[in-house]
Amino acid sequence: MLRGGTVTLRPMERSDLPTLQRWINDPEVNRWLRVQWPLNLDQEQRWYEQVSASGTEKVLIIVAPDGTPVGNLGLGRIDHRHRTAEFGISIFEKAYWNQGLGTDASITMLRFAFEELNLHRVSLLVQEHNLRARRCYEKVGFVAEGIERESIFSGGRYLDMLRMSILDREFFALHGRSADS
Ligand SMILES: CC(C)(COP(=O)(O)OP(=O)(O)OC[C@H]1O[C@@H](n2cnc3c(N)ncnc32)[C@H](O)[C@@H]1OP(=O)(O)O)[C@@H](O)C(=O)NCCC(=O)NCCS
Repeated sequence: MLRGGTVTLRPMERSDLPTLQRWINDPEVNRWLRVQWPLNLDQEQRWYEQVSASGTEKVLIIVAPDGTPVGNLGLGRIDHRHRTAEFGISIFEKAYWNQGLGTDASITMLRFAFEELNLHRVSLLVQEHNLRARRCYEKVGFVAEGIERESIFSGGRYLDMLRMSILDREFFALHGRSADS
């Protein structure tokens, strides 16, 4: 378990699969993600097995202060030579949006990435017009790096993606080190 200010991050369990499948098939949320076809339980299970076995991709469940699992987040492309990884997060239970949980969960994941995994840089890609996510990432300390022009096709049009990143020293300057508290 990773404990944040209000959220808890815990491993995915096989028993989460029906919830994970319901989440990923919600078009109001997956419009912001790189999802193509609706996924059946077998496909969700294959994804779960692949992530569970992977050394370079890790996913955790975000649990709200009231105990409800509300979404997931994780690191992909973890590279221990360059000390880099890619970050992703989704709160699928929409009633929990805009309450600071995404920010708290992201800070908790990054603290683990920098203090435990000893990473140097974590980056992400976000749809340029996803203003809620961008605001969340800015509060966490991610810095905009540049636009990938028309790099995905969704909703009948090409969309720009914004690359953002945060370095370990930037994270510690903003949020301090656990050892200091
Ligand atoms: C993106 C996401 C993880 C953020 O989590 P969250 O808990 O909702 O975010 P927070 O409450 O910590 O922060 C959201 C901020 O955006 C602001 N915001 C919300 N809608 C906004 C909008 N349309 N324009 C600008 N800011 C907006 C909120 O007011 C808040 O900022 P504030 O604290 O300064 O008031 C979550 O909303 C989510 O999963 N959305 C759907 C999937 C998604 O977009 N995933 C990211 C893909 S890159």
